[in-house]
Amino acid sequence: MSTWDSLRAREAAEAFRISAAELSATAAAFRYDIEQGLKEAGTSSLRLLPSYIALPEGNEKGDFLALDFGGTNVRAARVRLSGNGRWEVVKKAEAPLRTVLYDFTTADTPKEELFDFMAGLVDSALDGDKITPCLLGHTFSFPSEQEALEDARLIIWTKEFAVPGVEGECVNALLCQALERQGFANVTPVAVVNDTVAVLLAAAYQTEDVFVGSIYATGHNICYLENFNGRQPKMILNMESGGFSKLLPNVFDSALDRRSEKPGEQRMEKMTSGRYLGELYALTLEYCFDMEEGSLSAFSGEELSALVAGDSAAVLRGHGIMELSTEACGEAESLCEAICRRSARLAAAEFTGTLWHLAGSGMLMPQTIAIEGSLYEKFPFLQAALHDAMVELLNSEARRIEVRTVRDGAVLGAAIAACMAKNEK
Ligand code: BGC
Repeated sequence: MSTWDSLRAREAAEAFRISAAELSATAAAFRYDIEQGLKEAGTSSLRLLPSYIALPEGNEKGDFLALDFGGTNVRAARVRLSGNGRWEVVKKAEAPLRTVLYDFTTADTPKEELFDFMAGLVDSALDGDKITPCLLGHTFSFPSEQEALEDARLIIWTKEFAVPGVEGECVNALLCQALERQGFANVTPVAVVNDTVAVLLAAAYQTEDVFVGSIYATGHNICYLENFNGRQPKMILNMESGGFSKLLPNVFDSALDRRSEKPGEQRMEKMTSGRYLGELYALTLEYCFDMEEGSLSAFSGEELSALVAGDSAAVLRGHGIMELSTEACGEAESLCEAICRRSARLAAAEFTGTLWHLAGSGMLMPQTIAIEGSLYEKFPFLQAALHDAMVELLNSEARRIEVRTVRDGAVLGAAIAACMAKNEK
């Protein structure tokens, strides 16, 4: 292995810095793209997808099945809604989509196998009950077009999913077929929501004045409650903010994008989400060592956390990088911190752009932003970095905004959506 180049390390870290002026310009561009996209479809880098669901009243009641698909794990849960905003997760089954033994996200996975895997988790959550009728809410976390709450057509895979034959298809229809194959005629999928939408629905059970929901995990995205020319009730709009593209990618971002499943797509997500940060870090280290691109494997979220917490020597050894000087280890840590700090700053710019849009020409309303996601919840300094960037952007108005994590977001939101779909009928 060639030697560590400190100059390159500093140069790479600098490439991830976002100045105060750039931060503010990004927030303004994000707001512009929301407003442009609302005015004229197809003119913004944000997809702004209607979800056909409003915020819940809190009086939803009944037992529902929730299926959460689209991150690292698939989850199925039986959720009991008992009115007054109360709920209980009665049973939960969970399995990763990828292990050393299998991977249900690849280009050679038949779509039936993927949906059968999802139906298998429904089986576990229901303890094999093929008799009791049951309504299912589906949290499906990819850009999807809806004409109603009941089903959603996948527009494009993100997060490096590549299973063929699903793009352009209605996902609840595919799920129904899988449930039928496994004898679950008693389970009826009645709603599909994006995970950000599920988080916002769930947040409405847990806090007041919440109009913005977000996922900050393997993937990244934001939704909010939109007015649509005064139409009541307001509808949640899935912005697909990971697709925002008015950004200044550096050479590492461009290299990552080039070798991704979908070059040119999800530029914001590729700069912010957990699926990509470890790959970006590997690319920068390759540069510092002057190694060929692709020589280092991507770092996991846990490894990045350990790195910024000061445990770089052990983590780097795990990737075959031995005997770095203490000084070089410090530089490797700073580099990792720069990549993750940029992620938090970009997320803050998106939130601010959204809040500016919601405020119009007035002051920001005191409100809570609801977030769910392992990266946000577990990564050492991310919450503080996001908060600092919000203060940088909003000054004293930042005091009106609380960013809060949501419990059971994806499954509770799916259950609420299923109940609201039932109540609509
Ligand atoms: C998807 C979004 C999703 C986000 C978080 C992105 O890759 O496009 O629909 O909300 O990941 O899971």
